[in-house]
Amino acid sequence: MVHTQRWRVDAENPDRRLIREAAEVLKRGGLVAFPTETVYGLGALIYLRDAVKRIFEVKERPPDNPLIVHICGLDQLYEVARKVPERALKLAEVFWPGPLTVVLPKSDSVPDEVTAGLPKVAVRMPAHAVALALIEESGAPVAAPSANLSGRPSPTSAEHVLKDLGGRIEGLLDAGETLYGVESTIVDLTASPPVLLRPGAMPIEKVEEVLGERVVIPNFARGLGEAEQALAPGTKHRHYAPRATLLVVEAGDYADLGKLIEAVKRVAVAKATEGLKVCVLCTEEALPLYEGLEASVALKCLGSRRNIFTVARNLFKMLRSIDDEGFEFAIVEGFEERGLGLAIMNRLRRASGFNIIRV
Ligand code: TXA
Ligand code: MG
Repeated sequence: MVHTQRWRVDAENPDRRLIREAAEVLKRGGLVAFPTETVYGLGALIYLRDAVKRIFEVKERPPDNPLIVHICGLDQLYEVARKVPERALKLAEVFWPGPLTVVLPKSDSVPDEVTAGLPKVAVRMPAHAVALALIEESGAPVAAPSANLSGRPSPTSAEHVLKDLGGRIEGLLDAGETLYGVESTIVDLTASPPVLLRPGAMPIEKVEEVLGERVVIPNFARGLGEAEQALAPGTKHRHYAPRATLLVVEAGDYADLGKLIEAVKRVAVAKATEGLKVCVLCTEEALPLYEGLEASVALKCLGSRRNIFTVARNLFKMLRSIDDEGFEFAIVEGFEERGLGLAIMNRLRRASGFNIIRV
């Protein structure tokens, strides 16, 4: 056990003195969790190989799953990437700082521990004052996976981080809940055309618009991959799954919620009748359609379909609460795979272990 020091800082205007303390911990080879605009990350300085190795230990992360390098300025992009293609600069100019990660050929200065031996490096500049200040004060890029135990939902609050990693890491910068609630979008720019490795907070449609070309969306990016190609090694491991059984109910047409909700209710009642503790993760728009649902079934509102942002924001917190509140069977309404919806469905399908019905 180590003592996990917690610094409470303002998300927009963090106390530099506290950031410097956290940066000192990183420079001494410690691990510090910090907020980004997507989820909390668990940081180590990329040049401190032993610290990077410890990230894998404390997260119990499979050793073949590389880490994203977080930078605070474009000079650091040239430091970690061997080649910076025109496409990368175009994306950086529009989306950075922001929730887009690009994969590029790695420079020799990036230790193999960071990329799990791959010749490529994933890089992003986070849009969070605390993250940027921490990288700046550390004087080096920061390798950071999401700050959860491997396989658990990514942490969107300091409490989630402490629950998973308290006593295993040296520090935690706490700036409250994160903005997007799902991880960054990852695009491989070493391929032509570029390939989406993980849908995330930045809609892929926007990326395509800026690039002026289509991005390849492999089946596994939709979370449907049986043949999960090991392109983004992280996508092939079990992830986000609650201990409870999770069922995703998808619709052919989300304009007609009636049919979808009927199916959700049917399963909910059947499982409750079997004596299981059941909850339904629903949406605001569908609430009236649950009138008269058996009282033993708990309804939890994920957010609004008209503002899909709210759903992304609540998603991981809800997945964690299924277990925390002792539910044995959870049913979640599906979403249209547009914009943030693509990332949400990817996480839900994977969390369910592909336990899906379509109506
Ligand atoms: O929003 C985010 O991206 C958060 C915050 C903390 O920045 N980070 C995050 O990291 O989600 P992590 O480690 O949980 O997910 C990183 C994903 C993994 O699926 C990993 O396999 C992939 O990125 N990845 C990292 N480096 C890669 C590389 N060189 N080539 C292909 N995929 C890579
Ligand atoms: Mg992760």
